[in-house]
Parts: sequence; C-alpha cells; structure tokens
Amino acid sequence: EASEKESMYLVSEFAQKYFQNTMYNTDEGQAIGLSYFKERGFTSDTIKKFGLGYSPETWDAFTKEALGQGYNLEYLEKVGLTISKDEKQFDRFKGRVMFPIQSMSGRVLGFGGRILTNDKKAAKYLNSPESDIYHKSKVLYGIYHAKQAIVKQDNCFLCEGYTDVIQMHQAGVENVVSSSGTALTSDQIRLINRLTKNITVLFDGDAAGLRASIRGIDLILEEGMNVKVCTFPEGEDPDSFARKTPHEELLRYLDENAKDFIQFKASLLMKDAKNDPIKKADLIRDMVISISKIPDRIKREIYIQECSRIMEISEEVLFNTLAQLMQKDI
Ligand code: CTP
Ligand code: MN
Ligand code: MN
Ligand code: MN
Ligand code: MN
Repeated sequence: EASEKESMYLVSEFAQKYFQNTMYNTDEGQAIGLSYFKERGFTSDTIKKFGLGYSPETWDAFTKEALGQGYNLEYLEKVGLTISKDEKQFDRFKGRVMFPIQSMSGRVLGFGGRILTNDKKAAKYLNSPESDIYHKSKVLYGIYHAKQAIVKQDNCFLCEGYTDVIQMHQAGVENVVSSSGTALTSDQIRLINRLTKNITVLFDGDAAGLRASIRGIDLILEEGMNVKVCTFPEGEDPDSFARKTPHEELLRYLDENAKDFIQFKASLLMKDAKNDPIKKADLIRDMVISISKIPDRIKREIYIQECSRIMEISEEVLFNTLAQLMQKDI
C-alpha cells in the first residue's frame, strides 16, 4: 500500500539524518565515525554529499529517539532498522559507520553499515534487509549521484562496493555505481540501460573480482549492452587505486586498461591456455558462448571476426559453433 511505503521512506530518511547528526554533533560520532571516514581519505564535502553517518554503540539509542519523535515501531521493524526480541528493541546497525542507499530519484531505501574494526569474525558490512522499499537486486549504490554523469559520458563504471563509488567520485569520476553486496543482476543492468548502453566493469583485483567480472559480462551482453572490463593490480580495488592515483593518471589508466570482453577473456585466460590446445579450445568456446548472448546480429558478426583474429582460428569454425549454440537456445 502506498501510504505504508511512504511511512517506510519517511522513517528511513529520518534515520539518515539521525546517523548524520550523530556523527557530526556527538563526541562519540566525531571520534569514531567522522574520523573513520577521514582516515579513509574522504573529504568533508564527500562525506556530506553521500550523507554518511554513524550509528552509536548504545544498543537502542536510535530506536528510542525515533519512537520519541513519534515514528511507528511497525515501520522501524519493516525497514529493519529496529529488531525486536522478547519485547525489547535493538538497533540493527549499532556501532557502525553508515552508508545510505538511495534510489534513482534520491529517496533513502536502506543502509549499508560497516564495522570499524578489522575483526574477521564479524560481518564487515551489514545491509538493510529486503523490504517493500528495498529490493537489493534492483538497486545500484550511487545511481542518484551518478545518473547525470552517466548520461553525459555515455558510459557507466560498475564497481563492487560503497567505498569504490565514493572514492572514484572524489577523484573526479562521477559516472560510477556499485552492485554492493549482491551478485550483479539483470535488473541492476536494466537500471543502467535507461541511461547508457555502455558499461565498464571495474571489479576488485582479486580472484573473486575476476570471477564476478566474467559472470557480469554475459549478463550485460544479454541485455544488448556493450561491456568493457578494466582490471586493477592484484590486491587493489577502485577505492584503493583511486585514492593514490592523481586524477589525470586515473583517467588514463581507466582508458588504457578498459578492454572489450573478447580481449579481456583472451588476456586473462591465454596465460594458461597458450601452449595447451585443450585449454585454448575451451577458451574459444567460452568466448563464442558470450558472443551468442548478444541480441544484435551485426555485433555478433563483428565479435566473431575479432575472436578469429585474436585466437588465430577461422571465422568459419566460429560461426558454426555460434550457430550450434544458438540452435540449442531455441
Ligand atoms: N559486502 C557486504 N557484506 C560483506 C562484505 C561485502 O555487503 N560482509 C558488500 C559491500 O557492499 C562491499 C562490497 O560487497 O562494499 C564489496 O566487498 P569488499 O570488496 O570486500 O569490500 P570493500 O567495498 O572493498 O570495503 P572496504 O574497502 O571498506 O573494506
Ligand atoms: Mn515491492
Ligand atoms: Mn572484494
Ligand atoms: Mn573491495
Ligand atoms: Mn576496499
């Protein structure tokens, strides 16, 4: 029901302001929350722009304040900010720094909360649960702040995390969003498709990031969009890389290292496949599978030609393989 959803938005927006005020205007918030973000290299402007905040250690501080201001417990529970147990109320995000997640039009849908320690036992990020206003598979973190730049640049950089988006913005690259805490979905890609046909995947420079990039490619191609992949050195993510790289150099890096998906797969897998005919055959088949996802016939043909050139195999064989694969789909 519409008014119910509206109540959920309102309580979420109240929470965003509460976490923000708590960070700026309490000793605990300044000492723990604000200094955490400063230590990560975020400027005051950046911290404001993304509405970052801090949820205090006291286990029910936020919930008490919200109830005191007349917000309904029912909605606090529905958006997951408050957890009730044995008639008692607990703040879900206590003692975490807070990243509000906004819709395309800027409404607060939910939160990501990061712990401050590097305690490997606790979840590093805690996210709002699914609710009537927050469907994590349909949301992209940063879309509200990125949408104009995505249209203007006619390209969208797609990262993994909250801090990647924020640090890239601060480094002057504003056409950037992240899938944050969920494997990339078709719904998320369609959200970008409303703004541009071009996505450059910027996942973390580790095994998980590479795996996610490979998976993302086919999903993006299936939506009829163009995909490039830019990788980072081992152990770096867009946040850590952008933080230490001057603006011009960052732009150059993104430009020079963005490869189309055929080149990306070739460079990634050729290392082991080079002198191994079986692996090379698997790699070529894998490329043709990706090509088969492309709805546009002319584009398929162009990528077959590129694949043929890079992998040194005849176009005829590739077209036959493609035809077989597409036959199976029907
Ligand atoms: N994530 C999550 N829950 C976790 C770990 C990660 O929801 N326990 C999500 C977060 O949105 C995070 C993203 O996945 O931003 C990428 O994860 P990771 O690369 O591990 O974190 P970073 O974004 O690099 O976070 P940080 O730099 O703060 O360590
Ligand atoms: Mn719904
Ligand atoms: Mn990662
Ligand atoms: Mn990361
Ligand atoms: Mn990181």
